[in-house]
Amino acid sequence: MREVYEMVARVAATRSTVLVQGETGTGKELIARAIHAASPRADRSFVAIDCGALVDSLLESELFGHVKGAFTGAMADKRGLFEAAHGGTCFLDEVAEVSPCVQAKLLRVLQEHEVRPVGGTQSGKIDVRIIAATNKDLSALVAQGRFREDLFYRLSVVTISVPPLRERREDIPLLANYFLRRFAAASGRTVTAIRPDALALLVGHDWPGNVRELEHAVERAVALTANAVLHPEDLPPKVSGAAARDCATPHSRLSLREVVTHHIRSVLRQAGWNKKLAAQLLGIHRRTLYRLGKRYGISLGERD
Ligand SMILES: Nc1ncnc2c1ncn2[C@@H]1O[C@H](COP(=O)(O)OP(=O)(O)OP(=O)(O)O)[C@@H](O)[C@H]1O
Ligand SMILES: [Mg+2]
Repeated sequence: MREVYEMVARVAATRSTVLVQGETGTGKELIARAIHAASPRADRSFVAIDCGALVDSLLESELFGHVKGAFTGAMADKRGLFEAAHGGTCFLDEVAEVSPCVQAKLLRVLQEHEVRPVGGTQSGKIDVRIIAATNKDLSALVAQGRFREDLFYRLSVVTISVPPLRERREDIPLLANYFLRRFAAASGRTVTAIRPDALALLVGHDWPGNVRELEHAVERAVALTANAVLHPEDLPPKVSGAAARDCATPHSRLSLREVVTHHIRSVLRQAGWNKKLAAQLLGIHRRTLYRLGKRYGISLGERD
């Protein structure tokens, strides 16, 4: 994520077209907004459009505008979003969903910096920075002939790939605590922290819906909990269920050594073998983790 933030800072100063790729809920729109906010265009408008949400003809007239009489119901001239974003940034969300016909028109905008309204004969110059986002593999769509190669190259002058949350588990405690503070403040509830065992569950979950899913899980937990500190049972069953299985070993007959060994390895696994994070989840210093590893003969690496 540091690389992503550095990229954001670097490209913000330019007007290069940026393609933001990443799974659903990874924060693509947030990144597009951050680029705009850090750019010299920050005081101009940021116009977002979800290309997947509109049928072709509507998308076209939304993006490029139309002239009076261009089609039934076009009662007056209408400005398109590109014109509305003049001087600012236009965010094309779900750009993989754009039809071949609109792809051709987008290419024109990127090449000539011109838009022509639907039904119009005159093209107008525009000055717009374009940021596009997709959760699809655009280069694969190009290979399948479903997305124009020339448009792909124009859009991906700079590509930012946002990693899924399960590949940056060390962000989970930071994000979870941030959401906790935000939702607690917004709902006026005094929920102040996440118990280490609940945090370990959050860190161990794979989050197919990424940051958005984590955000909703914390929001739900804050709303439903009867505690001042979030417990495992406050978390969605999908999240808390996974660990119930993980801790299923009956502990009563185990020696302390076995319990410690089992627990440390299980937390390490949940932490994706990140020792700093594992120590944080265990509530101990990283040096203590190494000491325990040595003392109990636990290998702290990913083997076995
Ligand atoms: N680093 C972050 N810090 C705080 N909140 C974040 C972060 N990343 C994402 N979020 C939050 O997660 C949610 C999803 O982010 P966003 O809408 O930008 O994702 P997206 O990649 O555009 O998702 P989709 O592909 O489903 O449109 C938003 O509520 C956003 O505020
Ligand atoms: Mg989005």
